[in-house]
Amino acid sequence: MSDNKSDSGIEKVRLGVGGPEVGSQGLGCMGMSAWYGPTDADEARATLERALELGVTLYDTADVYGDGENEKFLAPFAKAHRDEIVLATKFALGVDPADPTRRVIRNDRPYIRQCVEASLQRLGVDEIDLYYMHRRDVNVPIEETVGAMAELVTEGKVKYLGLSEVTGGELRAAHAVHPITALQSEWSLFSRDVEANAVPAAAELGVALVPYSPLGRGFLTGAFVHADQELTADDFRRRQPRFTGDNAAANAALLEPVKKIAEGRGATPGQVALAWVQQQAPLHGLAVVPIPGTRRRTRIEENVGATHLILTESEMRLLEPIAGRVSGDRYADMTFTSAGRA
Ligand SMILES: NC(=O)c1ccc[n+]([C@@H]2O[C@H](COP(=O)([O-])OP(=O)(O)OC[C@H]3O[C@@H](n4cnc5c(N)ncnc54)[C@H](OP(=O)(O)O)[C@@H]3O)[C@@H](O)[C@H]2O)c1
Repeated sequence: MSDNKSDSGIEKVRLGVGGPEVGSQGLGCMGMSAWYGPTDADEARATLERALELGVTLYDTADVYGDGENEKFLAPFAKAHRDEIVLATKFALGVDPADPTRRVIRNDRPYIRQCVEASLQRLGVDEIDLYYMHRRDVNVPIEETVGAMAELVTEGKVKYLGLSEVTGGELRAAHAVHPITALQSEWSLFSRDVEANAVPAAAELGVALVPYSPLGRGFLTGAFVHADQELTADDFRRRQPRFTGDNAAANAALLEPVKKIAEGRGATPGQVALAWVQQQAPLHGLAVVPIPGTRRRTRIEENVGATHLILTESEMRLLEPIAGRVSGDRYADMTFTSAGRA
């Protein structure tokens, strides 16, 4: 193995200053248990193994994905490959005791301590490699939350800390309490609000960016257009404004340059979308490790293939205006995102 490449040829990247080294593309595991319709568990397990063969080492889950089911699903894989992978999970999205159908955001110390124990048990590991605060509860000072997370590092329950969907200011305040290894936020050809202040802060502090939904939840691949007509009744994407009604059709038309570049390069639109995200690293001066989600071996091969695709300057220019033309927000309720607080 060379110094900066895995056996498969995927580049390796250091996740933040002093963080772990990981393959330059990670794997989002959420859809294997939650929110994106029915799953073939055997194929999903085979996808985890294939990803590792290809040099993917960062595996992403959260306690809320399938109410703990996704962490349990990952446990045998984590046990079999404990020293080869970097296992990331998250806390903060709990159930409202007054109405169990509603989610609440909690960032308080007693809740964090309860969550970490539950995640460790479900994952079947002694230590979580990367522990993220999934969403920000504005009623708890971020310094207090990160202070409680730092205790977990001291106690050996967690190795590295991460945050998701925080603003640049929140990231700075958190990093002053304890080094933050990674910021996980939505970043894709369709979602670029993170560039306003979080990306510059991360670059300045040496925090890595872990873009989630880099394929625009699959929309950028052309796999679906009208979520409300094409996806199953329980699919979360049916509630996302940009994938329904007139927005969906208008947004699908924005994919023309993506398709054109893909054709010209013998690539797929999804690979072009991933290449665009990867190329933000040199543009913004920070480590970027996207975590596209898939449950299928053929797609992990396709997605990892994108790590070798470098877009030209003129191709990047063609893609530049897309995000500014997208119709509809990325969530029905944006108050829970960093953009909602900026
Ligand atoms: N921090 C947060 O708040 C947050 C929010 C959302 C997600 N995440 C994390 O980020 C990960 C990735 O995000 P995401 O899953 O929402 O969105 P994504 O990676 O943009 O897209 C995933 C969707 O695209 C499909 N897909 C993947 N590769 C494809 C290909 N080559 N061709 C066609 N379709 C393809 C997948 O279907 P198949 O699975 O059927 O292949 C799935 O429906 C999640 O798994 C999760 O770990 C974090």
